[in-house]
Amino acid sequence: MMKKILAKTSNRRYPIYIRRGISKSALKLIKGMFPGSHKLLLVTNDSIYSIYREMLEKNLASGDLESHIHTIKEGETYKSLDSSRELFDVLLKHNFHRNDLIVAFGGGVIGDLVGFAASTYHRGTNLVQYPTTIIGQVDSSIGGKVAVNYRDTKNIIGTFYQPHMIIMDPALLNTLDDSEIVNGLGEVIKYGLIFDSRILDALEKLVQRQEKISSITASRLFEDIIYRCARIKAAVVSKDEFDTGHRNLLNFGHTIGHALEKASGLTEISHGRAISLGMLVALDISAGLGSQNADLKKRMVHLYKKVGLPARIAGPGPEQLLEAAGFDKKFTSKKNKFVLLKALNRPFFYHGVPEEIIINAIKKNMG
Ligand SMILES: NC(=O)c1ccc[n+]([C@@H]2O[C@H](COP(=O)([O-])OP(=O)(O)OC[C@H]3O[C@@H](n4cnc5c(N)ncnc54)[C@H](O)[C@@H]3O)[C@@H](O)[C@H]2O)c1
Repeated sequence: MMKKILAKTSNRRYPIYIRRGISKSALKLIKGMFPGSHKLLLVTNDSIYSIYREMLEKNLASGDLESHIHTIKEGETYKSLDSSRELFDVLLKHNFHRNDLIVAFGGGVIGDLVGFAASTYHRGTNLVQYPTTIIGQVDSSIGGKVAVNYRDTKNIIGTFYQPHMIIMDPALLNTLDDSEIVNGLGEVIKYGLIFDSRILDALEKLVQRQEKISSITASRLFEDIIYRCARIKAAVVSKDEFDTGHRNLLNFGHTIGHALEKASGLTEISHGRAISLGMLVALDISAGLGSQNADLKKRMVHLYKKVGLPARIAGPGPEQLLEAAGFDKKFTSKKNKFVLLKALNRPFFYHGVPEEIIINAIKKNMG
């Protein structure tokens, strides 16, 4: 059954449609929503295109919109100003108007890049996010943060530009590598921990039933998990569109997670895995400040093992992590900031966690 979420932001309300197999009717849905559009540019990357070429070409040929497909090279490096320039050239060449449509078909890299280009072309052109990864579906396509990387800095040039529509087909996740699935499950677990424990219940049920990691995303129950996560993200964005407070709760696990990414070298550990370890440390920091969550921690370690997420930090030690997080001696006047859990689904912000509590929590997860 088709599920629909309405995301409400200051200057736009937009639908998020979720259904396994929705891709078959996606073009019809898009055309119904944008009767004034005459042209459509679908942007993806070359490896996603090689998997979905036939489906995309067939779907686009079936409508009466003038349609074009443009592929970007695969990889985070191509989330760049140069790629945006490439897109502007294509849009100009085909004389796209602001009422025409730009569709981002891919993971967060494509979504962020295409969203950025759409936000500036004609001072804002119709944008459809059509995410094809777990991160894309539960996180990056919703909420309007669009950006490109510049030189060595990630997401440094960007803006807020809400899409006009989001289409999610969980069946597209079937072609993801196991490693990408595991990465995405870290994000899913985060939503379960901070906002909706039923996500954890469902995931636990799934891992009990399934032997292979890929059968998790192929299951019907996973569609419901995507829906629950997307609903949380849309609600959080509606409450704090410009990331000034409440939306920061989504940074659960990020303080130590980011430090781990930095200390390990950005390519050594995937974002999802680093954040997952950061969440375990955050649970132990919460315990250090009095939360009774030893059982929850055990439950998470068990779930991580089942889905293939790392449950121990290998590599950087506490000092390195504190330094990477910017908590070294030079920064003692600047209080550290964590998102912690009083209990399951009871997140809170804490400024100035004592250093020994952080160190002990990291040590508990080492090795
Ligand atoms: N805007 C936001 O709010 C937000 C939030 C989180 C992450 N991000 C950004 O998102 C990016 C990470 O996104 P991601 O995790 O989706 O990674 P990604 O876009 O790099 O995609 C991961 C890999 O999966 C491949 N892929 C995508 N869909 C596929 C499919 N259906 N089948 C087979 N392969 C497929 C891609 O080619 C790529 O190799 C980062 O750039 C990050 O900064 C943005």
